Amino acid sequence: MALTIGVDVGGTKIAFGVVDENGGILERGLRHSPAGDPEKMALTIADVVNELAARHEVEAVGIGAAGFVDETRSVIRFAPNLAWREEPLRKKVGELVGLPVVVENDANAMAWGEYRFGAGRGESHVVCVTVGTGIGGGIVLGGDLYRGRWGMGAELGHMQTVPGGRPCGCGNNGCWERYASGSSLLAEAKANAEADPAAATHLLRLGGSVEGVRGEHVTEAARLGDRAALDAFESLADWLAQGLADLAAILDPGCFILGGGVSGAADLFADRVRDEFAARLTGRGHRPLADIRVAEMGPSAGLVGAGDLARLR
Ligand code: BGC
Ligand code: NA
Ligand code: ZN
Repeated sequence: MALTIGVDVGGTKIAFGVVDENGGILERGLRHSPAGDPEKMALTIADVVNELAARHEVEAVGIGAAGFVDETRSVIRFAPNLAWREEPLRKKVGELVGLPVVVENDANAMAWGEYRFGAGRGESHVVCVTVGTGIGGGIVLGGDLYRGRWGMGAELGHMQTVPGGRPCGCGNNGCWERYASGSSLLAEAKANAEADPAAATHLLRLGGSVEGVRGEHVTEAARLGDRAALDAFESLADWLAQGLADLAAILDPGCFILGGGVSGAADLFADRVRDEFAARLTGRGHRPLADIRVAEMGPSAGLVGAGDLARLR
């Protein structure tokens, strides 16, 4: 059986594993991500690869990374939320591990994992949206991963949804990920608590103060009925729905998949996304509605997808 190593590099953690051709994970692990230091990052990735490769016969390595990866799948040219600039990650890691390496955008890898082995199985046109620190996108059209001309397609988080809106790590304003990501959910909940502390009793109790509120507190407070947290989830749902409606106007997918860290709380917002999507879609009433699904593979999708893409390289 052909084995590969999949590595999913995020801002806080590196998840990695040995992946088989059915999307199974034979061995897996997690490391702290030295996100601010590209040199250390390459060394850490090479380290975990060498460790796994010593125990398994692997043929290639796929790395999913949160940034704009070039069309040769070698260089991370830019990362709005991380320190990479023109980073030749494929070459650096390749020299240290002596195996073929491909670098993929993290959300592309995740979308591929869900398309092949998760919520997108059996669909040919899939748009995956990962809701985390930013918003990542992955598009599968006719069974192929869509990369664009220069490798940088499907940067869905940087659609400029709000003219002159909130500043984004990419240098523009009003990007979708400043309204519909995990970071915007947290910012919104804090702003709600600031404006009306009486509506944020659970949130403020969990966080200790407005500044102390963290992402998981927003989910927990919403589940307890906290108005400030619930309003933040409603806002997230509406912005997500708006973006999906616009994407459906362009791409007409059979299904959307909502993934990323925040999708763990999908019970708090997915139904509203579906309703608002149906209410905003152009041509509604005269076309099928794309299914809006929640990712099935959780934090494994990225590494499994990266491993699979390396096998198919
Ligand atoms: C980056 C993408 C990445 C996404 C999710 C965005 O800010 O531009 O490259 O896929 O965040 O990590
Ligand atoms: Na992408
Ligand atoms: Zn942006």
